[in-house]
Amino acid sequence: MIKEWFDFSGKVVLITGASRGIGESVAGAFCDLGASVVLTSRKQDALDKVACNLQGKSGKACAIACHVGKEEDRKKLVDQVIQQFGKIDVLVNNAATNPVFGPAINTDEGAWDKIFEVNLKGPFFLSKLVAAKMAEKGGGAIVNVASVAGLKPMMGLGVYSISKAGLLMLTRVLAAELGEKGIRVNAVAPGVIKTKFSEAIWKNDFIRKVVEQSSALGRLGEPDDVVGAVVFLAGPAAKYITGQMIVVDGGTGLKGA
Ligand SMILES: NC(=O)c1ccc[n+]([C@@H]2O[C@H](COP(=O)([O-])OP(=O)(O)OC[C@H]3O[C@@H](n4cnc5c(N)ncnc54)[C@H](OP(=O)(O)O)[C@@H]3O)[C@@H](O)[C@H]2O)c1
Repeated sequence: MIKEWFDFSGKVVLITGASRGIGESVAGAFCDLGASVVLTSRKQDALDKVACNLQGKSGKACAIACHVGKEEDRKKLVDQVIQQFGKIDVLVNNAATNPVFGPAINTDEGAWDKIFEVNLKGPFFLSKLVAAKMAEKGGGAIVNVASVAGLKPMMGLGVYSISKAGLLMLTRVLAAELGEKGIRVNAVAPGVIKTKFSEAIWKNDFIRKVVEQSSALGRLGEPDDVVGAVVFLAGPAAKYITGQMIVVDGGTGLKGA
């Protein structure tokens, strides 16, 4: 039975922010496990390259561009996926942005709106559209990629931290409301993972060493370190788990002074 729980053959998985980093790794894993994976982000070219690299795996991948903050894009995306595949079994809300670094109190309204549009409003309204389709088919699973910054303020990333705290609450609110429709909603909260998004952190020798030294596992994360938790929460192995969060940070802070 345990093998079947990690078999995603016949399942349709929609992943935002799938053109690189964590989203790309997660997409590769679902493809390995037999799913039809829909990759989305703003840039069609980048997505096409990822889809091309995934050819030859057990599942299949297709790429549809969508800015998660834009209502029209979200609607077109879901319509296209339903037209092509007839259903969505799993949604991974992974795309996020952070255009500013520094004290939260200095953030202007434009930057605030951008962060919330992509990191919170997008996942909420995409979940709303997708949940309606999932409910028609008797259920599904939503996995939100939050951050440890949503649990404890991250220096210089204050507004981003607020948005991720919001995403964790969104996870619990939707879990409570959608459970009766057979839809589970969970989150993962990664620590520092070596991607383009976190370059400013891991390319800075001082900050990198501080994080590594405080980490129980003594290293920063790689995108594929996040994959297992997402796949677990998305499938039947987690069939009695909803409204929860898994921290994926290698024990960062456990060795802190
Ligand atoms: N890396 C870390 O240390 C870390 C730690 C904790 C949490 N996280 C979370 O992990 C998730 C993935 O981050 P990552 O590190 O893999 O970042 P990444 O490598 O920079 O990838 C971000 C992805 O999001 C897409 N994206 C950005 N803005 C978008 C928008 N408006 N609409 C649709 N797609 C958009 C990007 O593609 P396009 O440019 O083509 O749109 C890209 O595919 C994010 O939610 C992030 O907050 C990351």
